[in-house]
Amino acid sequence: MMRYTRIIGTGGYLPKRVVTNIDISQTVDTSDAWIYERTGIRSRRVAGSDETASSMGEIAARQAIETAGIEAEEIDLIIVATGTPDRIYPSTGCLLQQRLNIQNCVAFDIQAACSGSVFALSIADQYIKSGAADKVLVVGSEICSRVVDWTDRGTCILFGDGAGAVLLEASGQAGILSTHIHSDGGYEDLLYLPNPQSAAKANRDESGYINMRGNEVFKVAVNTLGRIVDETLAANNMQQSEVDWLVPHQANTRIIAATAKKLKMSMDNVILTLETQGNTSSASVLLALNEGIRDGRIQRGHVVLMEAFGAGFTWGSALIKY
Ligand code: ACO
Repeated sequence: MMRYTRIIGTGGYLPKRVVTNIDISQTVDTSDAWIYERTGIRSRRVAGSDETASSMGEIAARQAIETAGIEAEEIDLIIVATGTPDRIYPSTGCLLQQRLNIQNCVAFDIQAACSGSVFALSIADQYIKSGAADKVLVVGSEICSRVVDWTDRGTCILFGDGAGAVLLEASGQAGILSTHIHSDGGYEDLLYLPNPQSAAKANRDESGYINMRGNEVFKVAVNTLGRIVDETLAANNMQQSEVDWLVPHQANTRIIAATAKKLKMSMDNVILTLETQGNTSSASVLLALNEGIRDGRIQRGHVVLMEAFGAGFTWGSALIKY
């Protein structure tokens, strides 16, 4: 019997504090109108000083576990996607394993910037299809607010904090239809988050903040995401019209609109969280998936295309029959 990966639960968590565009316009030279028109963002959530990627991930994970109706101990693999880990090691995955009090499982982090959760889904799918794991917890959790320069209007307007989770299980029924992940390490200069400690040792004068040449990233993102739509549909011998929902990485509404157009899809079939969450990096796709499932838009049997693009560059997609 063919083994597929099926979604059995999702969860999400957003910190309480809301920072609006108007709040940001008090400290940097920008406006609510400029930010909304160029990005689609009105506000974002910012984590409290007591929160971490693992504490936020735990809340999202517990919600996914509860929805799935399983015991945490049944999980045999935890993959956390994060670019803002609690510590470099132990991995946030191990810290989450401890928080969930799971004795016998494997846990690790993967780092693919904003594409992290799609990369993690792809890894989880390989483990499940091969029989190496039966139940996998994938979490994307980010505290971007700690790695943006709040005086840089080119980046501080974009990012937000949050965590998303999905529980996956082996099944005879599809499931994840295909995943596609890619990297091109040739674009380091367009988007990077330095490690200040190693930069200092190497005599590089770098801050611990996200550096981005936004306009150049934008152009590559639009072209690349267009190509991944083609690749995903071709691999499944599907037409655009067979996709019910687009669950995109939430970086910029104009990038998302270009992908929807490529799918000949109305924006009504796109799960958008950007307006109130901003770009939560590796958490964004899972937060959007959770929202679409919880509010009943995404129903069992619907075909869902998830996609993301981020630093590296990295990009990927997952086509799912929910
Ligand atoms: N408020 C007002 N004006 C601004 C702001 C701001 N917050 N930011 C930039 N500007 C100005 C610029 O200085 C520039 O002025 P100039 O024409 O006088 O030089 C003008 O607005 C246009 O700037 P652009 O950078 O060309 O603006 P653009 O339309 O490209 O929008 C944005 C900028 C929103 C950053 C966009 O480029 C974007 O979304 N890029 C993609 C981001 C992304 O997808 N990142 C990948 C994922 S993130 C990850 O992996 C971590």
